[in-house]
Amino acid sequence: MPVPAKPPTVYLETFGCQMNELDSELIRGHLRALGYQFIEDYSTADVVLYNTCSVREQAENKAYSRLGLIGKRKKAGEQVILGVLGCMAERDGADMLRRFPQVDLLCGPGELDRLPALIDNVRRTEGASRHERIALAGNKSRRSATLAAADDNLELLDLSRAFDPSAPGSDRRSAYVRITRGCNKFCTYCVVPNTRGAEVHRPPDSIVDECKRLVDAGVLEITLLGQTVNHYRYTHGLAVDAQGRELPQVGPGLAAFRAEISARDNVTSFARLLERLHNEIPALARIRFVTSYPRDFGDDILDVMAACPRICRYIHVPAQSGSNRILKAMNRGYTREEYLEFVGRIQDRLPDCTIAGDFIVGFPGETDADFEETVSLVRAVPFKNNYIFKYSPRPGTVAITRFEDDVPTEVKKLRNNRLLDVQAEVSAKAHAMWLGKHVEVLVEELRDHGAAPGAGGDAVEDSSHGEIDGHSRPAKTRRIHGDSSDLAHPQSKGIELRWNRPRAATRHGRQAIGRSGGDLIVAINLDDDDQHTGPGSLVTVKIASTAALVLNGRLAPSPVASPVASAS
Ligand code: SAH
Ligand code: SF4
Ligand code: F3S
Repeated sequence: MPVPAKPPTVYLETFGCQMNELDSELIRGHLRALGYQFIEDYSTADVVLYNTCSVREQAENKAYSRLGLIGKRKKAGEQVILGVLGCMAERDGADMLRRFPQVDLLCGPGELDRLPALIDNVRRTEGASRHERIALAGNKSRRSATLAAADDNLELLDLSRAFDPSAPGSDRRSAYVRITRGCNKFCTYCVVPNTRGAEVHRPPDSIVDECKRLVDAGVLEITLLGQTVNHYRYTHGLAVDAQGRELPQVGPGLAAFRAEISARDNVTSFARLLERLHNEIPALARIRFVTSYPRDFGDDILDVMAACPRICRYIHVPAQSGSNRILKAMNRGYTREEYLEFVGRIQDRLPDCTIAGDFIVGFPGETDADFEETVSLVRAVPFKNNYIFKYSPRPGTVAITRFEDDVPTEVKKLRNNRLLDVQAEVSAKAHAMWLGKHVEVLVEELRDHGAAPGAGGDAVEDSSHGEIDGHSRPAKTRRIHGDSSDLAHPQSKGIELRWNRPRAATRHGRQAIGRSGGDLIVAINLDDDDQHTGPGSLVTVKIASTAALVLNGRLAPSPVASPVASAS
């Protein structure tokens, strides 16, 4: 294939979770540094890259439909390089090249550092061999996890993150930082341990350094990423590279979470990592983390959260089901009672901490009685929101081989809708507790006349988890009717808040929309002469009304010293 005119243009679209969003950011930085120019139009780009997700069938179907679009371009004789990156490339494997001949290259999430070489191979070599077009981990990372971790070029990709203040997007105030890759939990329904490989923990110094540099570049809020962040644990003194820098390390066995082991001097536990970030980076206004696992979330973490005001009091801890029988079939490793015990510990130590989660409905064998257990768990916990998914059998998982997908689609849909309705009630109650309180809000956008929450229009919610294009947790599209001033519960930065029928008669002309430390969506009614509040401002708001999806308030006259003190 001839080399396209310089600079080559790239279209990159991201599906799936926050991990993928971060990977896409790193890919952008890496390719930009090599002279590629990113554009928003897939129909003219020289290189089209899809960073894909495999967590549910729907997520894959979206990516497959995109492949068809590029296939058409190729049929029309256009020269375009098509690359499939991420979890779907890893799950589908090399066979994808046979099934989709328009695909030029495949790159798994554990091999992204090799992406520029793959693109180069295809650009320079007419008919590059399969070997030159594929970078997948296969089972390598799991078979020899220690070796894979020691030889971790991916770490270099994370470390090479661009901090150039002039780079596009560098004016943002929020960023993701990976602390753990992969997952060792093997929940029976889940592809992630196959696609992302073994759990590997990054050295704490690398994490602290990356956070410092982001804060120096203007970032106020950092979200630490891992599939089970509370399982972060780094033992010092085991292995260093030629420069004496510590290397990433494979995840320990579960025995390692016993308190006496975590407290050893040579161990950085998740609690200590949080404490280090809080204490060593005073200019970091907010520290968040996702996703927590309901087991092994020690009191040491809750105590650090209680002691450190800039660690957000927000825990996203998916329960997945309220039925012990189903939790066992899912191999989640905890019971409903243990989940509730954890929630009790959160509430004892951090009364103002918000709690969110995920549930799967229609898991194989889920009876009406099992589902009712899930409903009662949702009612028993003051969840601010839950992402609810219909079970989707995934190739390569234990569940698809061991259990029949026996809950009819109709029943899955009914359970999904019923749980969403219950969650709306629970959210409304959880939100009502904030009435009259002060919260600190990081503003994400401004909204002008006529299209404002509180205006009584119909809001369209796009919130999910890996199923809407370009969003990390998008997928339920719900319409909220009537007078409610409701908004979505999106977790990602890609909040998609669309107003169906903007009305002319608004009570408030301008609003700022942002999130509290507890990740609550807050709409702030601004005075007409307020020219200061805008994206990136950190403001104190007094909550004047609440609904199921959004809180409304006004700027408080004077900033409070600590959001935590004022919120409790
Ligand atoms: N590591 C996180 C979740 C990662 S996947 C955790 O353990 O909680 C994100 C969510 O997708 C999961 O919480 C689960 O609710 C959902 N999910 C994963 N596999 C699924 C499947 N096969 N069908 C439906 N939902 C699934
Ligand atoms: Fe998947 Fe379970 Fe790992 Fe979460 S903890 S990524 S659901 S295997
Ligand atoms: Fe992979 Fe994230 Fe999807 S880990 S399967 S992109 S949810």
